[in-house]
Amino acid sequence: MRSTAFSVDLIIYSASQLLTLAGDAPRRGAAQGELALIRDGAVAIGGEHIVAVGDTLDILALADDHTRKIDARGKIVLPGLVDAHTHAVFAGDRADEFEMRLQGASYLDIQKAGGGIMSTVRATRAASLDELVAPSRARLDAMLAHGTTTAEVKSGYGLDAENEIKVLMAIAALDATHSMDLIPTFLGAHVVPAEYSGRADEYVNRVLEMLPRVASPGDFGMRAVDGRATHAHRRLAEFADVFCDEGAFSVEQAREILSAAKTWGLGLRIHADEFANLGAATLAAELGAASADHLMVTRRDEMRAMAQANVTAVLLPGTTFGLGKTNFADGRAFIEENVPVALGSDLNPGTCWCESMPFILALACRYEKLTPAEAIVAATINAAYSLGIADRVGSLQPGKLADVLIANVPDYRHLAYRFGANPIETVIKRGQIVVGRG
Ligand code: NIG
Ligand code: FE
Repeated sequence: MRSTAFSVDLIIYSASQLLTLAGDAPRRGAAQGELALIRDGAVAIGGEHIVAVGDTLDILALADDHTRKIDARGKIVLPGLVDAHTHAVFAGDRADEFEMRLQGASYLDIQKAGGGIMSTVRATRAASLDELVAPSRARLDAMLAHGTTTAEVKSGYGLDAENEIKVLMAIAALDATHSMDLIPTFLGAHVVPAEYSGRADEYVNRVLEMLPRVASPGDFGMRAVDGRATHAHRRLAEFADVFCDEGAFSVEQAREILSAAKTWGLGLRIHADEFANLGAATLAAELGAASADHLMVTRRDEMRAMAQANVTAVLLPGTTFGLGKTNFADGRAFIEENVPVALGSDLNPGTCWCESMPFILALACRYEKLTPAEAIVAATINAAYSLGIADRVGSLQPGKLADVLIANVPDYRHLAYRFGANPIETVIKRGQIVVGRG
């Protein structure tokens, strides 16, 4: 298993288990748990890419004088984790609301009183691009240290054209200057901002006006970010998302925004069934969305519609936990209904400030009834598929990016079995050791 002309810069060998995740994407039903595991496995890296994967003896034979070697004896090796859903770029925090919730206030009560998402919107609007990038960069550092090498990141704390574009520029700047790869999503329809209170449909029109600006390839010019020149030259968003729930947008409004987004060439994602079931999962199936996310109160018939339409279920158990709730999404039911399941952290300042995907795996296994193998598939190849990047990341296969983790555990089940400490020892991103040795 090797690609043609290559030089081998790095070999990781003697892994007790090398989880390749090679094979079809997305994985669903019985295939959801297929890790394509090699015992005493090794991976060879040349430049930014994987050049070979296989048995230790075969792979070590590819080494030459300049090849660096890492012994992974007693450890596991797996692809860099892909976080399918984050709101990692924001300013400020909401520790005060966390305490209010501990004293009995609900998330929606706080939102209705002018806090919640709007509170982060105020802080984010007040921040300069640099002031937004700096704390977000620190969060990406923490995510990377916990094994996330690729993440989706949403806007949604600007809620007007200028500030939504500022957040998307911050995502572009971080993508260009941080070792993690970021996939940007436009979430202009996160909530109706305070200045449009009672005029939701007018705000929907503002969002429709923002779509061409974020979806068109454009030149957003040079900006200095953290003293470095950054140039956003691609389009600012790859996906559009709508928070379709009680206190946010209706199914009709979500349909209007997402249908328009589709005509602008954006992929679709949707916050569905986090609090109330308005029919957002069915809408995701109707529109052929890439993913429906949260899904805490989704019905079986809606799961079947998702399976039929190839919509990935992005489960976010950290949010249920973060809200102190117990109605976790029924991950087992999604797998039974043949829906490909992916996982995300939902990292955000309101419901889930969690930078650790291994902790998300621990929650998904206990409360959403995934097996450890299914959760690992959900956090790698299936998450990559839902983001349209399964040809580049999510598995260890020749030709893919060399995004590789070494975890200091003897067996993959320990990734979900243990929790609260970081099992990830070494992170390799595009062939470079970015965390750990070296
Ligand atoms: O996924 N549900 C909407 N968005 C976030 C919460 C964002 C916030 O509270 O700031 C979520 O839970
Ligand atoms: Fe979210």
